[in-house]
Amino acid sequence: MSHHQPDPNKSVTLTIDGIPVTVPEGTRILEAAKKANVNIPTLCEHPDLCKRALCRICVVEADGRGKLIAACANDVWEGVSIVTTNQRLLNIRKTIIELILANHPQECLSCIRNKKCELQSLALNFGVGGSLFENDVGERPPQIESETLVRNMDKCVKCGRCVEVCQEVQTIRAINTSHRSHEYEISTPYKQALEESFCTFCGKCAEACPVGAIYEHDQTAEVRAALAAGQKAIAQISPALAAAVNDELALAADTITAGKLVTAIKLLGFEKVYDAAIAANAVNSEIEGEVQKRGNGSREKPQVTAKLPVISGCSAGADKFVKNFYPDLADHLTTVKSPRRYFASVIKSNYAKEAGLDSSSVTSVSFLPCLAHKYGAGIKDENDFALTAGELARMLKLAGIVVETLPEKAFDSVNVDLPKQGSCLQASLVKKETIHGYAQARKVMEAICEGKCDAEWVEILNCPGDNPC
Ligand code: SF4
Ligand code: SF4
Ligand code: FES
Repeated sequence: MSHHQPDPNKSVTLTIDGIPVTVPEGTRILEAAKKANVNIPTLCEHPDLCKRALCRICVVEADGRGKLIAACANDVWEGVSIVTTNQRLLNIRKTIIELILANHPQECLSCIRNKKCELQSLALNFGVGGSLFENDVGERPPQIESETLVRNMDKCVKCGRCVEVCQEVQTIRAINTSHRSHEYEISTPYKQALEESFCTFCGKCAEACPVGAIYEHDQTAEVRAALAAGQKAIAQISPALAAAVNDELALAADTITAGKLVTAIKLLGFEKVYDAAIAANAVNSEIEGEVQKRGNGSREKPQVTAKLPVISGCSAGADKFVKNFYPDLADHLTTVKSPRRYFASVIKSNYAKEAGLDSSSVTSVSFLPCLAHKYGAGIKDENDFALTAGELARMLKLAGIVVETLPEKAFDSVNVDLPKQGSCLQASLVKKETIHGYAQARKVMEAICEGKCDAEWVEILNCPGDNPC
């Protein structure tokens, strides 16, 4: 195998299980196999992360000599013949799965990732019902980290995805691996609580985890308890929620609509369901007003005195990011709440007033796909929860509500005048820069420190991609 820099303009021809394929130089065996419609099983591999080759589930034979190599970590080479399935490979993969299961709690039915766990699917596909090896799981209970994340290291399969996404994709470096073998765990430096670490609660580690080792802190029981205690519950749902619930329930896209969710959430016992999209314009307008106030009507004021650009975020994690890494920029942070919190307080006081209730008897729940919104929810106000699409799906299943069969209902209307974005000429001239993810945020924060950012408003969105929530 050559080790020169691959040239993607050159083609390589090889065979995968006897099927000839031609792919650009530098293509991994895993991807070449996909092109030949051959599926090689994987566990540690993640399409958006670097090659780690830790689990060896994807081993294949190369070159007809029985040489074993990891398909996820090796590129193809000219003329190679790859074998992806035979009895030997099957036995190797089964043994790896059995060894992992020997170190894994046998509690799939009660696991939050049941039916969505990559280890469980592998075990099913390879017919591994349990492990031949003695199960030697220790006694480490889940660590409830915060209202956002839970870690259960007994379930960790040591794939390293979470660490890589935190360190390389988000550049936060809040978590790392420590110890080996039984003691192996994903931990913060000096085992600090996540709140005290650099963690921004972006939730990307939980999204990357193939099993139930890092996951959202499920608060459905707390919401059910509030309803049972006679609290009046109101909800806001984000425009992207319906798509995320379809995904959670493994339904075709568009099966569940926002209108069906309104009906379903009311069946759960909620009094009102509002459209969270309304908040965005109002919050934008408030921040534009703040930009103008800080600039004191003049665009010439030096950045340092005017504290421009104003920095805002879609979740409270963005504030933590700025305070942790760029404390000198802390007074650039907006004083306006995040759209979720802003709207939660609007709908709560609006509903309490309409219903003639004290707001302490109203519980507000925001249903948003991204678990980053859980961070900071309920800190100042105990009757404020942020639940993910997964938590909503679990509440609906538990209540036996089959959302797809329900009629649609309209959102409830908020009877207050909210500020409208661009409502004055000045505001619409605000120069805004929107940032996706913390790696990009870091670059922009550095530009602000060096006086090289000419935006008047910098908005940090939690996710590196374009995922709306
Ligand atoms: S939530 Fe985000 S910042 Fe925190 S540990 Fe996970 S990936 Fe890192
Ligand atoms: S916690 Fe999850 S993502 Fe992280 S190493 Fe363990 S199994 Fe992999
Ligand atoms: S998927 Fe290739 S080594 Fe884990």
